[in-house]
Amino acid sequence: MSEKRIVLIIAGGIAAFKSLLLIRLLSKRGIKTTTILTKAGAEFVTPLSIGALSGERVFTDLFSLSDEAEMGHIELSRSADLVVVVPATADLMAKAANGLANDLASTTLLATDKRVLYAPAMNVRMWEHAATQENIETLRTRGALFVGPVEGDMACGEYGFGRMVEPEQIADAIEKALAGITHIDDLAPKPLKGKHILITAGPTREPIDPVRYLSNHSSGKQGYAIARACAELGANVSLVSGPVSITPPQGVNMVYIETARDMLAACEAALPADVFISVAAVADWRAMNATSQKIKKDGTQIAPLELAENPDILKTLSSHKNRPSLVVGFAAETNDVTSHAQAKLAKKKCDWIIANDVSGDVMGGDHNTMILVTENQIEPWPLMSKQKAAEKLAAIIAKEIGAL
Ligand code: C5P
Repeated sequence: MSEKRIVLIIAGGIAAFKSLLLIRLLSKRGIKTTTILTKAGAEFVTPLSIGALSGERVFTDLFSLSDEAEMGHIELSRSADLVVVVPATADLMAKAANGLANDLASTTLLATDKRVLYAPAMNVRMWEHAATQENIETLRTRGALFVGPVEGDMACGEYGFGRMVEPEQIADAIEKALAGITHIDDLAPKPLKGKHILITAGPTREPIDPVRYLSNHSSGKQGYAIARACAELGANVSLVSGPVSITPPQGVNMVYIETARDMLAACEAALPADVFISVAAVADWRAMNATSQKIKKDGTQIAPLELAENPDILKTLSSHKNRPSLVVGFAAETNDVTSHAQAKLAKKKCDWIIANDVSGDVMGGDHNTMILVTENQIEPWPLMSKQKAAEKLAAIIAKEIGAL
């Protein structure tokens, strides 16, 4: 195999010291490293220690005559097979997402024609901030790869997502990326491997006649995000979906239905499952006197719409003979969110209710504020993207069913 080389950008975060271990690991694996150290990065590690480990000079300055004479910044950005950012700070990713180029690191990220792999590291609040999440989404859509972060203790004393993965994992990700593998998320731990998770999402549609129906504004975004997050943790996911316009997540078994009764049948057919997550906004009623021909607007009095209550899928599966070990319901409320959720928990006999206030633009939007309500716990979550909330829920489920 021909010799591989990466450009390693070390940005300014406490996790920068781990980049030194990474350089050593890479050198043992026969991968050469050209290093760019940002000004903030130099507060944490020195060019001398990096140079000693990589055996090569370290580039620091966009406007340095000697740096430019040795290798111009455009050439530098293209000199390797892969650009790797360790630690990837919120600031550097924001610059990269927005095309800012005011130092050697950001200029390299803008000028490179190579794939970029980011190993993010930051405080949990910074990680969860919509700005960071949007920047990451932008970079991901442009083909960037990410390894981590993971949940854990942080240098700042807080706990949560934002902790950088260990150098071994970054080195594995680099090797995969160098081999052209873009599913490097496969490196993440798979605590839900071997578990079957059944999820419902989206609205249901209850026909009135062949062209008209009763439904609601559910977009399916939250349910699809949960399906993706569970699949990423290794679960075998069955997603029973009402009509939505979202691309199905990779590796998920899709079952498309229209009505609540079809959704229930599809769920029962998918059992047994270890976990059931009922995210769908199931229509509560259906038209009893639905016609097989289009109702004409011919001036005569139309028959009043007679409604029948739909089966409650969550309640049915909670008391099913094949009941999944963990049953999670959702409760969209506009007022008294927590008390309604507690009442629903008891009425539907599920284990957890995720309550959310839908009085704003949650339905169809990209963010959600949720409260996890269990028999003996009420845990409000901060405002976060539906994707982040999905990842948080998947991680909690993994912990719970690992402990069952
Ligand atoms: O009763 P409500 O619709 O507020 O309850 C919400 C929870 O119940 C959600 O998890 C939803 O998916 C589920 N549900 C259901 N079948 C219904 C109505 C709601 O599974 N017919």
